[in-house]
Amino acid sequence: MSQEKAVKFVNQLKWKQVIAVVAGVAIAGGVMAFTQDMSREAIAERIQPSMKVRVAGDEPQQQAAAAAGDRSGEQVYNQACAACHTGGILGAPRKGVADDWTDRLPQGMAVLLEHSINGFNAMPPRGGCARCTDDEIEAAIEFMIADL
Ligand code: HEC
Repeated sequence: MSQEKAVKFVNQLKWKQVIAVVAGVAIAGGVMAFTQDMSREAIAERIQPSMKVRVAGDEPQQQAAAAAGDRSGEQVYNQACAACHTGGILGAPRKGVADDWTDRLPQGMAVLLEHSINGFNAMPPRGGCARCTDDEIEAAIEFMIADL
């Protein structure tokens, strides 16, 4: 190989490498776009079947109903509200502590519920429980103020 030919060969090689890198990046981008597309709905769909597995003797309808918004006030409270409302975190009115509720109760349930659903200062909307229904939130409030 003459020197001139060798230089040409190297130049060609570089172009091949550049093309390979560009192609690689394009493919990687495509794969990333694809995997991102696989997020949320796709993942939810993929994990769904495992959630449908039931042990013989289970009562699927009752379970489905409980998941779909029939949890008791106590269940919702323990799951979504207790973290703040048991110890009074961030100034949250404590469950069962009458003093914490003296200025709040007179607002009436409609306002308490509205504040709980939409959020109120440091109180996050629905206490952060996006899948809690309005009825469940109301039941949780009732559970919180039941023994005042
Ligand atoms: C991240 C902490 C946090 C969680 C979780 C939380 N709260 Fe609160 N909540 C607060 C704070 C803080 C306040 C006081 C807000 C204020 O008056 O400035 C509050 C206030 C309230 C009030 C009184 C509102 C008013 O108008 O006086 C109700 C009712 C309430 N929360 C219900 C709930 C319910 C029901 C849940 C669960 C579904 C819940 N909270 C979860 C922090 C929380």
